[in-house]
Amino acid sequence: MNEAIPQLVNYDEPSLEAAFATLAEEVRAADTTDPEAFRLHWLGRKQGRLKLVSEAWLKSAPAEARKPLGIRFNQLKQQIEAALEAPAAKPAVAAVQGIDISLPGTFRAPGIPHPLLKTMQEIVAVFHHLGYSTNLGPQVESDFYNFEALNFPPNHPARDTQDTLVIANQQTRPSRDRLLMRTHTSPVQIRTMIEQGPPVRIVIPGKVHRNDAADATHSPIFHQVEGLCVDTNITFSDLKGTLDHAMKALFGSDVKTRFFPSFFPFTEPSADVQISCIFCGGKGCRKCKHSGWIELLGCGMVDPAVFAAVDEQRIAQGKEPAYSPEKITGFAFGMGVERIAMIQHGISDIGHFYSGDMRFLEQFA
Ligand code: PHE
Repeated sequence: MNEAIPQLVNYDEPSLEAAFATLAEEVRAADTTDPEAFRLHWLGRKQGRLKLVSEAWLKSAPAEARKPLGIRFNQLKQQIEAALEAPAAKPAVAAVQGIDISLPGTFRAPGIPHPLLKTMQEIVAVFHHLGYSTNLGPQVESDFYNFEALNFPPNHPARDTQDTLVIANQQTRPSRDRLLMRTHTSPVQIRTMIEQGPPVRIVIPGKVHRNDAADATHSPIFHQVEGLCVDTNITFSDLKGTLDHAMKALFGSDVKTRFFPSFFPFTEPSADVQISCIFCGGKGCRKCKHSGWIELLGCGMVDPAVFAAVDEQRIAQGKEPAYSPEKITGFAFGMGVERIAMIQHGISDIGHFYSGDMRFLEQFA
């Protein structure tokens, strides 16, 4: 155990550096599971290695080498003391190994964006190219932004605790101030329009929460990308053209889109957008339930009631009303990121995204 102190023939800088580096490495690799043994070994008054070093190197050193020697000696001593103070001694690595720089290093795979993030960024990028900017909002939202301003009537089923995860102990608050986990990214439409007047062109990527049981296509936490475009003379044709372009950008220029009448309280008219099945090209297969079409997102023209709620709020905050439905129109859309990523990659179980299984994730590297 007590190896001899290496001889120091030269007191020039490189020799000192090398000699102390050897000792520093010895300390670093030493077994400190028995701190007392470690202390004796290094700091023992008679036979401690530091004492031996001092005798072998310091005593016979030429005057001009004393200072650099002393500095290094003190550094080594501090290192030993630090090792003694370190919590819970290191695991026993008794055998001191020199560093062989010719050995391959520990391989660390470079990180990649999670497939969901990648798809989310792809969607956002499509709209950035159209001149949209990005807005974000809180995941803990108030009833006002998540429902009331979006024209959800007081007893709309989506407000049921069935779908909405509410924050506890809010009953004493006025209902519009009660907090909940946002069930969609649409409240950020309201936040944006209260903040800024038209023209508005924004995309809103983010997490949303619903009290849904997890199965192959549902997860209580998932992601959406919302879009909002408000200006003078925005028409349903603009909505159709924009989303048709976005779907082609995401799924390839061959896909067709079609718009089906639908309902959302905050858009009128509302539509569901379907794309021609990317698996069978529209012929009909198991993935599209033999219809040739896949339903992908919800959209519509901003309901005047939403503009009214926004302007009411702007006035309450001392801002000019800016969303008169006579002058201003707009469209909005919202899509599920998981669903789009599943279709892009042919993934059949949403759970894969959250499993952290490297065999799944590595396929997107
Ligand atoms: N927020 C709606 C949902 O989560 C989607 C949507 C957004 C519909 C914008 C129309 C306009 O289902």
